[in-house]
Amino acid sequence: MEILRTLEQIQTFSKKSKESGKIIGLVPTMGALHEGHLSLVEYARRQCDVVIVSIFVNPVQFGPNEDYTMYPRCFAQDCEKLQLAGVDAVFHPTAQEMYPNGYCTYVMVDGEITHTLCGTQRPGHFRGVATVVTKLIHLAQADKAFFGQKDAQQVVVVRTFTKDLNIPCSIITVPIVRETSGLARSSRNRYLSPVERKAACILSQSLRQAKDAYIRGNHNADSLKQLVTQHLQKEPLALIDYVSLYTYPGLEPIQIISEPCLLAIAVRIGTVRLIDNVILGGDPL
Ligand code: PAJ
Repeated sequence: MEILRTLEQIQTFSKKSKESGKIIGLVPTMGALHEGHLSLVEYARRQCDVVIVSIFVNPVQFGPNEDYTMYPRCFAQDCEKLQLAGVDAVFHPTAQEMYPNGYCTYVMVDGEITHTLCGTQRPGHFRGVATVVTKLIHLAQADKAFFGQKDAQQVVVVRTFTKDLNIPCSIITVPIVRETSGLARSSRNRYLSPVERKAACILSQSLRQAKDAYIRGNHNADSLKQLVTQHLQKEPLALIDYVSLYTYPGLEPIQIISEPCLLAIAVRIGTVRLIDNVILGGDPL
């Protein structure tokens, strides 16, 4: 497995792979890898000849009061996991390498899809994501890039700007990987104390309840959101950021569910902000 740290190294690697006719798969991550990330790698392995995983805690997608400096960094451990998973190359640049002095170009997806859900509470977040993913796709010359359904809004944003900017890279979505408790795997789970981790199961439980109610015939958006809210409120450690229901992938408001919809929640457990979601009425992928 090659470790690539500079723009020149990744460009040389990708050029060689392209010239030998290989299909290049890119899995963008911020590291602190878990089963969720490894599932993306598995999908990429199956669909591509060469798999590049990027590990880069992208400063421009964090707000001033967010956890950029605190974000877990464990490169050596991550590399061991990726080596076992059969990855061909890891791209691990510094922030200075990606955003050298004088850097001033950003990709902004300027539609409702970035103003709802996490876009409201994290202004500038999707501008940072769109910018870094654009750069990574170009650097890797990726034919396919793999993203988790866990960050459903991120998938919509990435699909939108790659289409709008005619970037010839297919965006592949991978289902959410959960712990046996139902808790969606996340790099931020490691901030949770044992008590908080137990409390965090309330997220997936509340979505499960709504999904069951939907299957039993409740297609009313307000009623389903209320069900989730009431369930979350039973957990004293949970503080709700949002409980939202939008059409998917359009992310438009809806009252009576008659097409695939995204039921998404963001909840603070102590100081840790967790997100989770479920698709109602359709195949999420
Ligand atoms: P990060 O949070 O490290 O996630 C990297 C990828 O792993 C994302 O596509 C995310 O949706 C996916 N992922 C995380 N947890 C998952 C789970 N439980 N099941 C399935 N997939 C999961 O998302 C980012 O990094 C960044 O915004 C990035 C795209 C790398 C741009 O900086």
